[in-house]
Amino acid sequence: MFETLQAPPADKILSLIAAYAADPREGKVDLGVGVYRDPTGATPILASVREAERRLLETQKTKAYLGIAGDPAFCKAVQTLIFGTDAPHDRLKALQTPGGSGALAITMGFAAKLSQRLHIPSPSWGNHAAIARSVGFEIVQYPYYDAATGSVNFSAMKAALEKAAEGDVILLHGCCHNPTGADLNKDQWAEVAEILIARKLLALVDIAYQGFGDGLEEDGWSVRYLAGRLPEMLVASSCSKNFGIYRDRTGAAFVLGKTAEEAAVAQAQIMVVARTSYSMPPDHGAAVVRIILEDEALAAQWRDEVETMRQRITGLRKALSEAFRLRTNSNAYDFLMESRGMFSLIGVTEAQARRLREEFAIYLVDDGRINIAGLREDQVETFVEAVVTVKG
Ligand SMILES: Cc1ncc(COP(=O)(O)O)c(C=O)c1O
Repeated sequence: MFETLQAPPADKILSLIAAYAADPREGKVDLGVGVYRDPTGATPILASVREAERRLLETQKTKAYLGIAGDPAFCKAVQTLIFGTDAPHDRLKALQTPGGSGALAITMGFAAKLSQRLHIPSPSWGNHAAIARSVGFEIVQYPYYDAATGSVNFSAMKAALEKAAEGDVILLHGCCHNPTGADLNKDQWAEVAEILIARKLLALVDIAYQGFGDGLEEDGWSVRYLAGRLPEMLVASSCSKNFGIYRDRTGAAFVLGKTAEEAAVAQAQIMVVARTSYSMPPDHGAAVVRIILEDEALAAQWRDEVETMRQRITGLRKALSEAFRLRTNSNAYDFLMESRGMFSLIGVTEAQARRLREEFAIYLVDDGRINIAGLREDQVETFVEAVVTVKG
């Protein structure tokens, strides 16, 4: 049977990792992979995570199954982290998931039973469309980004959402849009909420980078606002980045219902989707997150560590825009300073991205996405010079 199979197209980021690893050049720069890096280029285990792991090792008494929705204490802690204390918590139900991807898979799998079409921003994280397709959604892309200004093309986005059919699902990035770094402002979120309500659209908010934009509380604003306005909503969240526990596969899915009863039924339906794929979520990362968030001192330490990561990213954004300003004598790259999170599109073609790789040992995704945290401060100027050179 297998002789009829064809290999799927190579994953662009995984191919990039392999090419980078095989490159013998000193001073090579990896701006491809979406993981945070510290000033030494490492993706460290946070001290708060290490301490929580130590405590877990000492206190864990069993590894018996947790249940399909995971650990209620983890769910409660992450729900408060994302939704704050004032949310309609009675109408909210949570599930622990294998990463943000697991949360997306089960919320989309659930939503695909209610709706046919999912609207995704153009561009978006590649796995959004891939997961949506795998659960049977028809995908519609809505315009999101204006490459000329490096910001959200809000009028085009609004016009597209206004044309969506009742019952369609709209995927939104809660903060730190991947790959553009261009986020909606508060007024724009308010306008989006009005369209969602008026057109009876179901929001699915993906929040994978809380704390990497303007701060933990600030980055939760969009989800909190929508939860206060919308009758129903789905949220897929990830602990991979802000806890630095990428490989421990930790995330959470949330469903907001019109009533507590409807939310409970929706959660039970989402549990059916989980049960028939991975059954139950992995525990280790979620236990670590729970230990951190339930302990005031450890939580404060973690918040400081997130703030350090955030400041490194915003500092690099500032340094990059300033270096581009000096080099190009223009404000064409000021958008880097105004964008949020780890990613931005640097505005190179596929051929120019290849040149950056081949001539300058700078690895970035072919669409021109750079992981800002992949840069060291002392590489900013050479990076800017290389970009300006290949763009001619
Ligand atoms: C926008 C977005 N959503 C969700 C995820 C999922 O992250 P994970 O499954 O590793 O938690 C990512 C990871 O890169 C992402 O960029």
